[in-house]
Amino acid sequence: MSLNYLSNRLTELEPYVPGEQPLSSEIVVKLNTNENPYPPAPDVFETIKKFNVNSIRFYPHPESELLKQTLSRFHDVPEEFIFVGNGSDEVLAHAFCAFFSGKKVVFPDVTYSFYQSFAKLFQCQWDYFELRDDFTFPNIEEIEHNTGIVFANPNAPTSIAVDLDYIEKLANQNSDNIVLVDEAYIDFGGKSAVHLTKSLKNLVVIRTLSKSHSLAGLRVGYSIASAELTGALSMVKNSFNSYPVNSISQAAAIASINNFDYTRSNISKILLNRKKLIEDLEAIGFSTLASQTNFVFTKHEKLASTYLYEELKKRGIIVRNLNGVRTTHFLRITVGNAQDCNRLIIELINIINK
Ligand SMILES: Cc1ncc(COP(=O)(O)O)c(C=O)c1O
Repeated sequence: MSLNYLSNRLTELEPYVPGEQPLSSEIVVKLNTNENPYPPAPDVFETIKKFNVNSIRFYPHPESELLKQTLSRFHDVPEEFIFVGNGSDEVLAHAFCAFFSGKKVVFPDVTYSFYQSFAKLFQCQWDYFELRDDFTFPNIEEIEHNTGIVFANPNAPTSIAVDLDYIEKLANQNSDNIVLVDEAYIDFGGKSAVHLTKSLKNLVVIRTLSKSHSLAGLRVGYSIASAELTGALSMVKNSFNSYPVNSISQAAAIASINNFDYTRSNISKILLNRKKLIEDLEAIGFSTLASQTNFVFTKHEKLASTYLYEELKKRGIIVRNLNGVRTTHFLRITVGNAQDCNRLIIELINIINK
């Protein structure tokens, strides 16, 4: 097909490449996309089982009203502060469109690569700010002033978090611009900035139920920000898709949020598995950054990450091999259940001793 048929913008796009979701049963251990190794809350199962299937002939509530009320109670913020979307990726996309399209936005040189895809899609003037050699964030003064700022806290794929003081100063330093904090992994470490949205009118916090709540397949994400900024997100959504979150996902998400004790117990298990995984990796020659997430960012002292990735895959284990300029020697490995982590270590030992 000739490119003449396509929009000019298409030539500028750089789509995000998600981790593999294999259909075959050859993969026995999947540690590549930071999913939760434990099942969703029992109430989620019950809600889906009892769901009135006849009701799906109706559209879902366009603003996910009941889910918004549940999130408002859960986070103790006004309902007008909450915006719900089809996964946090969609909320991020709307945020780039609402706040940064045609404007300047900066994000870390090592971070979630979807930010760059969105920046291109929405024709932002974008740039990186460099993380230090150890992947910690730079001094605030080194980050460009008077521009939109986006980052994940804790950051991905580095697994490192910044403290709330840093976020507060950054937002104050850029008071005429949006500071967007992606908290996809906040339940596994770091301190949430959600309560700061009450005082910082330019702060947007984005959350997902894909990680700590074990609901990646439902596609539910949300943001918390002042009513004004939330209204801007709704304007974008309603210019794109009025009904982004299906009715089953809305109901199941409510059940999960109301069952946070169960989620908390899964998080505790993951944190224990993470500690052991980091120790086991260290014992076989890996150095791993101090993780505040449900994944580890690690490199072997002798063996190349691509070699390890391919050898693991042959053995039915998939991890994420990162090919960025500064990440090329690293693997990003999701913290699985104890059995999956043990299996990973056994196979790594086999590869190292080959
Ligand atoms: C930093 C970060 N933000 C957002 C997302 C997207 O999550 P969701 O499943 O809510 O679209 C991911 C997914 O891996 C992520 O790593």
